[in-house]
Amino acid sequence: MKKIITYGSFDLFHEGHYNLLKRAKALGDKLIVGVTTEQFDIYRGKMNVVDSLMRRLDNVRNSGLADEIIVEDHDGQKIEDIQKHGIDIIVFGSDWTGKADYLNEYCQVVYFERTRDVSSTILRHERLGIVRLGIVGTGRIAERFMHESTFVSGVEVISVYNPRFESAKAFGDLHLLKQDSGEYEKFLENIDAVYIASPHETHYDYTRRTLIVGKHVLCEKPMVLTELEARELYTIASDNKVVLMEAVKTAYAPGFVNLLAIARGGRIGTIYDIEAAFTKLTPYKANTREYDPVVGGSFTELASYSLLPIVKLLGHEYKELEFESFYAPNGCDIYTRAHFRYDNAIATAKTGIGVKVKEACLSQELVVTF
Ligand code: CTP
Repeated sequence: MKKIITYGSFDLFHEGHYNLLKRAKALGDKLIVGVTTEQFDIYRGKMNVVDSLMRRLDNVRNSGLADEIIVEDHDGQKIEDIQKHGIDIIVFGSDWTGKADYLNEYCQVVYFERTRDVSSTILRHERLGIVRLGIVGTGRIAERFMHESTFVSGVEVISVYNPRFESAKAFGDLHLLKQDSGEYEKFLENIDAVYIASPHETHYDYTRRTLIVGKHVLCEKPMVLTELEARELYTIASDNKVVLMEAVKTAYAPGFVNLLAIARGGRIGTIYDIEAAFTKLTPYKANTREYDPVVGGSFTELASYSLLPIVKLLGHEYKELEFESFYAPNGCDIYTRAHFRYDNAIATAKTGIGVKVKEACLSQELVVTF
């Protein structure tokens, strides 16, 4: 018996999917179809799959072409499946051409020409539209964001803003984006959302001006420098029914989300103490971004990370908070330890620039189970 396998999200099941399954089935006697889980899709950058896994499984089943349906949830599973099911041929659409050649070692790899002019992405865009994004700032982080955005569906970066037009132009030319000089409000006109990656002290103002005109904001950390500013911005966002998010990517990293799920699930016992540290060796240079005496310093720079596991696991209703810091000659903190006392737990968040916590790790829990 000749066995064929193929994989996909099969979101909003369409003609292209049907054609591929039909041709795949015609290659042998049994067709196995692997459908990706939501988590695996997010991991692959498909952030906006519409149909649930159950629905996608049903749609593949209803095509009447699959003899067996399995779920794909991790990298490397294709090799495991080929071996487990004794697969002879693995089939992909032509968008995969070359990318699955490594599987030739395990079975025959066949690429079929994709059906033209139809894809889940097109259907999703027709239904949901595409988020048109503008970037504020043109530095190293904006550069990295541009690169990452190419792996994320449903989003298109279309313009860039920097009050220094030459910088916006250089960035825009490099990434084929529209540049708007000078006027921030004009830059906001043709976009749905803004990613802010400008210097810390400008975050509040850009965020506020963006939310006020009803556009969503993803702002680099620290989003603001005071609690008052944060409260005001979240109120405006809520009044205007737009999303306001701080770009703390660790909060969404699958590893971190798993860690939280395990800790919250009680599987490792009751958590009495959390220690989290984020330190890095940035050479001291007075008044650079990191060492700015007003808006720099280790805690402003890095605390979003070390506070994350503490706030996520113990909440923000702490009873006491104490800080201890060491300072650079210009007065900015190079090392800070924040000690929290909760009703039934304690926690420490450490941050350092130019000071390194040996064997630092993002989160170490001291767990005692009775
Ligand atoms: N496929 C195809 N022709 C199309 C669309 C998809 O042959 N017009 C193939 C893909 O190459 C893949 C399989 O169908 O081998 C499952 O594809 P999937 O990624 O689920 O579908 P897409 O429509 O390509 O989804 P997306 O737009 O989200 O990438």
